[in-house]
Amino acid sequence: MIGSPRVHHRLTDSTNERAKQLAEAGAPHGTLVTADEQSAGRGRQGRVWTAPPRSAVLMSLVLRELDERLPLTAAVSVCEALPVPAAIKWPNDVWIGRRKVAGILVEGRPQEGWAVLGIGLNVLVERADFPPELRETATSLQIEGGVSSGGECAASPVEQVLAALLDSLDRWLSARPNLVLEAWRSRDALKGERVRWSSGEGLADGIDDSGALLVETRNGPVTLDAGEVHLLR
Ligand code: BTN
Repeated sequence: MIGSPRVHHRLTDSTNERAKQLAEAGAPHGTLVTADEQSAGRGRQGRVWTAPPRSAVLMSLVLRELDERLPLTAAVSVCEALPVPAAIKWPNDVWIGRRKVAGILVEGRPQEGWAVLGIGLNVLVERADFPPELRETATSLQIEGGVSSGGECAASPVEQVLAALLDSLDRWLSARPNLVLEAWRSRDALKGERVRWSSGEGLADGIDDSGALLVETRNGPVTLDAGEVHLLR
């Protein structure tokens, strides 16, 4: 079972940074680093990732069984762990109703046999907690009605979501690649939508078996295997 051993920080710079350090020191497959709060949380494309203390799942896993589709598998795992319907914006943003609820950052040294899978998932974040520029595009489980009052469960909502996420990751990390691709495709938020990227624009047409995004443009089909695309709303 992944998630053990677990190191929890009340405050750290970045759980990905801590997990990378542990991986370099020989930590086993499945080692989990979590935090209540990060002072230098990292996002994709050099962005920062912020969340108020104890309001988000902030986790990084050391993985030693590598698979190039890890970013896709992680996105499917997050969707499957959520109590409300979610979709995936290529390559691995998790959306509820076209707003981002979770982000995934995979970093690693394949030549040294490890990767770090970092996930930030907004659980109790309130709309006013998001910086103004993110208020229309970000969301949380709380905002989307996906946090129950807890009842008799002693664990905090963030811990409950973490437990569901680890369970889901455990199942999907060992799933057959065709099942992961099928699950990803069934949650594709961009399929048939107009998208733009740094050098073009077109209609998103799903992913190929390597996870690259297929786009139909005026000049013919284009395959994007990295980078960022934006939905033209
Ligand atoms: C994105 O840009 O969408 C990816 C965001 C990933 C954020 C998580 S929070 C836990 C882990 N530690 C980090 O510094 N980043 C990831």
